[in-house]
Amino acid sequence: MMIYKTNEQVELMRQSALLVSKTLAEIAKILKPGITTLSIDKIIGEFVRDHNAIPSFLHYKGYPFNSCISVNDVVVHGFPGPKELVESDIISVDIGVILNGWHGDHAYTFAIGDPGEEVMRLIKITKESLYKGIENAVVGKRVGDIAFAIQEHTEKKNGYGVVRELVGHGLGRSLHEDPQVPNYGKKGSGPKLKEGLVLAIEPMINLGKKDVYTEDDGWTVRTSDGKPSVHFEHDVCVRKGKADILSDYSTIEKEEAANPNLFTKQIELPLS
Ligand code: MF3
Ligand code: CO
Repeated sequence: MMIYKTNEQVELMRQSALLVSKTLAEIAKILKPGITTLSIDKIIGEFVRDHNAIPSFLHYKGYPFNSCISVNDVVVHGFPGPKELVESDIISVDIGVILNGWHGDHAYTFAIGDPGEEVMRLIKITKESLYKGIENAVVGKRVGDIAFAIQEHTEKKNGYGVVRELVGHGLGRSLHEDPQVPNYGKKGSGPKLKEGLVLAIEPMINLGKKDVYTEDDGWTVRTSDGKPSVHFEHDVCVRKGKADILSDYSTIEKEEAANPNLFTKQIELPLS
């Protein structure tokens, strides 16, 4: 069942999404080699609670941490832990909050030091694919149009692996609502998009093959070939003509650019 939000509800959801953005920007300030992902998770939990919200991932289906922190070949749902970040690590930070009863859920991938051109390109293309998906989150299009745009940019144009097992989703009073939003699919397929549908669109893109497996902890998803994977996620509201992006990367990108420990060099390679 699809749940369409009123304009008032969308504004509340914007506040939830923006609290996640603000939390991610705080993390962008402090990322550096030597810090542990568990310490990042603690800061996330405190920041969210200090802003009158609840970290929504904690206890969700038994998930044991405030956030998901996925390093290198971990695709998503990485457990924060005592391992220190080192230069050339890439790290996806995925945060969910409940603020005033409404969910925000979005993610960003950072590079600690220089992971090399190949990986920087994967980061760039994955972020671009998210926006290409969002361009299709408009009234009259279908979920498959979002999926197709993401797959086209990542897999077909660049040969990356699009993860099949995990998908984006509707978002609202629950973390996961209908519809599912895959990152692969056919143009013109799937449910029709209508005004007020709020979606979490989240490409998970592998440098190598698309195959992944889940570790024995029941959560940590890794690439089967051990190559790195990148994850970006925005919360968007379907509108006529142009989607409304409720979350915001601008402050995260500002802090990322200002942090000398983070690598942001924009490489300009021609698309194949
Ligand atoms: N962004 C992820 C999702 O939408 C985060 C869920 S992790 C969990 O599925 F811990 F909450 F399960
Ligand atoms: Co999500």
